[in-house]
Amino acid sequence: MVNKNIVLLIVCITVGFVGCEKKETNVITFSVGGAPNEIVVWEKLISEFEVQTGIKVNILRQPTDTDQRRQGLVIALKAKKSNPDVFLMDVAWLGQFAASDWLEPLDTYVKEKDIELDSFFTKVINLADKYKGNLIALPVYIDAGLLYYRKDLLNKHGIKNPPRTWKELLNYSIKIQKSERENAPNFYGFVWQGAQYEGLICNFIEFAGSNGGGILIKDGKVLINSPENRESLEFMKDLITKYQISPPNTFTEMKEEEVRMFFQQGNALFERNWPYAWKLHQSEDSPVKNKIGISSLPHFNSGKSVSTLGGWHIGISKYSDAKLQAMEFIGFVTSARIQKKLTLELGWNPARKDIYLDKDILQKLPYFRELRDVFENAYPRPNLPFYTQISEVIQKYINSVLAGTVEISKGLKETDIKLQKVVETYDK
Ligand code: GLC
Repeated sequence: MVNKNIVLLIVCITVGFVGCEKKETNVITFSVGGAPNEIVVWEKLISEFEVQTGIKVNILRQPTDTDQRRQGLVIALKAKKSNPDVFLMDVAWLGQFAASDWLEPLDTYVKEKDIELDSFFTKVINLADKYKGNLIALPVYIDAGLLYYRKDLLNKHGIKNPPRTWKELLNYSIKIQKSERENAPNFYGFVWQGAQYEGLICNFIEFAGSNGGGILIKDGKVLINSPENRESLEFMKDLITKYQISPPNTFTEMKEEEVRMFFQQGNALFERNWPYAWKLHQSEDSPVKNKIGISSLPHFNSGKSVSTLGGWHIGISKYSDAKLQAMEFIGFVTSARIQKKLTLELGWNPARKDIYLDKDILQKLPYFRELRDVFENAYPRPNLPFYTQISEVIQKYINSVLAGTVEISKGLKETDIKLQKVVETYDK
């Protein structure tokens, strides 16, 4: 007799899996992306969870780019698929997911399991995880933009501290790039995320915010076209074209992982990235191991350092048919023990306050203490259901300005006009 599963498999392959989703109880699908080492850690944790609970977890692997991760989930949710049951979400798109009613409230479960919301950063929970009075997600880690620098190269050139202003970063870069290029022709002063995607918005907020500008959407009005933003954008462009301390592929290719690898190979003096890069830079086979430092991002002469608030939150699909099992998984991932593991193994900043006082953590990741302010005061992106539409418009114009295909003043003016239309369409 032909095995039933084989028949099912053949049918699934033939019809392209539509309608062929699992549903044995005690099996959940967890959708997650990120750098390759992150998936390895998830696999280990999942094995532990499976032994502990008897619930099987299938990983649905996603790319690293946040925009692609969102698109993958939106397709499944719009089609009301029961897979994936549980997933990580960027803080930037939680508003959209909540307003679309795609997320199962977690309030009852949290109450039953005595999960103390007070253990998490209140600001983050209130900003991102609550929607219309319901808890719709829990934070897994928080991100803030940081400056990585080559301590050894600064020392070699008699520079004691990392740059506090963008001007200092520029001067150090010009000087050290020139000297390093004698032996390493591909050496650059500063790498950051300039490709057309969400990461570019995070970088823009940091440059502009540290000049008193930013993305302002208030009372139905948008303000992008400001002198502060113009000056910041000009500086971003000049880093690539005028001063040439950032590589020419900054606006075509540079996302987190491209930037991280460039710096890790020893090809740059400064890098803007999220906390996850630290552990990888410090790994055994990393050419920059023990040669780096980490600090808050520089600012314009009259401004203050700004780090964009990032981070990933876990939630359950409204269409899941294994919600209780998925809730168990959320309880596990956000528990103090697993949060500590994720921090130690991946260098992620936990959203639980208690982990920051842990001795092992402070010993292994000393910058946690020094940079606590950066994490606590990180600057959120507008938390709006239509944030994605806003982001897409800004990404496109800023990237075109960096590429030199749109002139700065014209680019900012058109961004304002297009954004105003988005706000009028969705802000009802
Ligand atoms: C990181 C941040 C996320 C941000 C993304 C941009 O993953 O955690 O919030 O949107 O980078 O690339």
